[in-house]
Amino acid sequence: MPDLTRDDRLALLARLKTRLELDTGSGVEFLALTREEKDRLVREVAAVSANRSESRPGPVHGKLARPASPTALEPRAAHARPQTAAIAPTPSAKPASPTVDKRSVRPPVWTGFSLVPFVEPFDRPERRLALADLAASAQICDKCRLCEKRRTVAWGEGDLAAAVMFVGEGPGRDEDEQGRPFVGRSGRLLTDIIEKGMRVERRGVYITNVVKCRPPGNRDPREDELAACRPYLDRQIEVIKPKALVAVGGVAGCALLGLQPKTGGLRGRWHEYAGIPLRVIYHPSYLLRQRAHDDDRTDADRATWHDIQDVMRLVGGDGK
Ligand code: URA
Repeated sequence: MPDLTRDDRLALLARLKTRLELDTGSGVEFLALTREEKDRLVREVAAVSANRSESRPGPVHGKLARPASPTALEPRAAHARPQTAAIAPTPSAKPASPTVDKRSVRPPVWTGFSLVPFVEPFDRPERRLALADLAASAQICDKCRLCEKRRTVAWGEGDLAAAVMFVGEGPGRDEDEQGRPFVGRSGRLLTDIIEKGMRVERRGVYITNVVKCRPPGNRDPREDELAACRPYLDRQIEVIKPKALVAVGGVAGCALLGLQPKTGGLRGRWHEYAGIPLRVIYHPSYLLRQRAHDDDRTDADRATWHDIQDVMRLVGGDGK
């Protein structure tokens, strides 16, 4: 709507916002809107997000991620030292260099297949359309108190036909600033887990959270906040139809599985959510904390590596 001033736009959003309703059954409908108003709002929100992403290229539009070493995907010579990823099990011998950066990512040990180049067939128009209303209404959602302090809504991003969908607990400070999930320090490790562990580009999976707005001070989302946000996640899952869900961290795992917060023992085995196999992995922030106490990759890294291998086996090895 290039002819609208910013004030017009805010007034339009405010007017429409009072008339939006969330249908918790099959998704969101703009129940009280005319077709014209609805289309206008969807275009409005799309234009605002397009402006935002133009000014900072993200992975969806950015350059393809490259493995840490250009030779990482080539078959190894028989005598070569095994290459290992950030979360791959390591041989007990310590690296020769005394100045190894604990957080650096080494190339993957997997040689079964190469990094799957991401191909976006026509930008998944039907799926994009199926989520357009919902994504637009989430941008102005005020169903719970998290809307009061948020700066942006981190809706979710990635391939709308991804085989694997990662679901974290909620945006942190960086995510709240950028309106994108998992872009801070934890996000960088999650990207490594995906790209080095799964050998799939980050944009070849879908990433979102159980709540789309930042809980103040990064506290865990509360039950009513999870409930208010659940229809968004359920519709994302319904449209994307992943072959596997990965709950990133126990908070997301408990929320998805309807368990009491802090229920333990969830990782290392399969669960199910909405008929889809679900795996719970350690949260990257936990992996980073563990590394702070250890010189090298930790048991938690190794466990995550095995969890991710199981996910890849389930979805057929290429993440597609
Ligand atoms: N932690 C999460 O669980 N989600 C994010 O998006 C970022 C950090």
